[in-house]
Amino acid sequence: MSISARITGIGSCLPERVLKNTDLEALVETSDEWIVSRTGIRERRIVDEGQATSHLAKKALSAALTCAGLGPGDIDLLIVGTSSPDMIFPSTACLVQHDLGMSCPSYDVNAACSGFVYALHAGAAAIESHRATRVAVVGADALTRHIDFTDRTTCVLFGDGAGAVILEAGEEAGVLAVSLGADGAGADLLKIPAGGSAAPVTREVLAARTNYLTMNGNEVFRFAVNVIPRATIEALEASGLTVADLDWLVPHQANQRIIRTVEKRLGLPHDRVFSHVDRVGNTSAGSIPLALDDLYTSGRLAPGDLVALVGFGAGLTWGAAVVRWTLARPTKEA
Ligand code: UT7
Repeated sequence: MSISARITGIGSCLPERVLKNTDLEALVETSDEWIVSRTGIRERRIVDEGQATSHLAKKALSAALTCAGLGPGDIDLLIVGTSSPDMIFPSTACLVQHDLGMSCPSYDVNAACSGFVYALHAGAAAIESHRATRVAVVGADALTRHIDFTDRTTCVLFGDGAGAVILEAGEEAGVLAVSLGADGAGADLLKIPAGGSAAPVTREVLAARTNYLTMNGNEVFRFAVNVIPRATIEALEASGLTVADLDWLVPHQANQRIIRTVEKRLGLPHDRVFSHVDRVGNTSAGSIPLALDDLYTSGRLAPGDLVALVGFGAGLTWGAAVVRWTLARPTKEA
């Protein structure tokens, strides 16, 4: 019998601390007007002292478990997509697993901002190959820990956050297709050069500030507006569907201009493309599940809707998942 993975629970977490564009005006030579017109971002949430990626991931996963009506002991595999783990090792997944009192195999996936779609691919594959029946898939990042708040070209873009879904095995098709891609030739376009084994943190590294994120924004923009439509169509074709069948596109929330360009290239109506980048900024691997949870809790996602989740990021990596939504609309009390 063919078994499919479907989403039976969803949750998310944003840190409480709000960083507005006007706060950034006090740190670097920028303006609210520049940030809004070039990115669409008005504010983002950032972690406080003492908070790390695992804290956001844990809260998002707890909410997803509650939504699914499951407990931590019901999950038999945990996958966390992140590129800002609490530590180089152990994995953030192991920290979350322990904090929540889970006992399942747990591991991280690093595909930067595509991390959630990569983790979803692995989780769905585990279910389809009968190696797991209930998988928790989390996308979580606290990238502001790796941002140089003296660099105006990057510090205005990023925020922190996490989202999680529960995948369960069933005969009803949920995750219809996941299409992934990578091109390491673009590795230099977006990276944190130091802090890994190639360039451990030294006094020289700290002086040169190479332990912070660097990016060629124009090249990444060009890559994004080409790869998102291509990946979306590829995943739809793998499901035997077309853009006309889509009810929602939930793209990686990096820049409203990227989202708008993609929407036009795919010929999608504006009100079918979800965006809340104005409120959260780019939360990396947290971005897509956070956006999906926002769409779900707002009551706009109906059972039976066809949703495409599409990410791109450092690597370069990209990934698109086509999902038939199977969760009932949230109740008012939820
Ligand atoms: O998850 C994937 C992550 N990355 C992305 O998705 C990023 C994709 N790229 C982008 O979103 C855009 O390229 C940016 C928002 C990063 C930059 O926007 P842009 O319209 O491509 O601007 P630009 O880099 O071409 O810079 C235009 C000008 C430059 O000044 P000059 O050289 O024309 O005098 C920049 O120095 O804007 C300047 N600038 C700023 N000015 C005020 C760059 N950052 C800022 C800033 N405030 N924060």
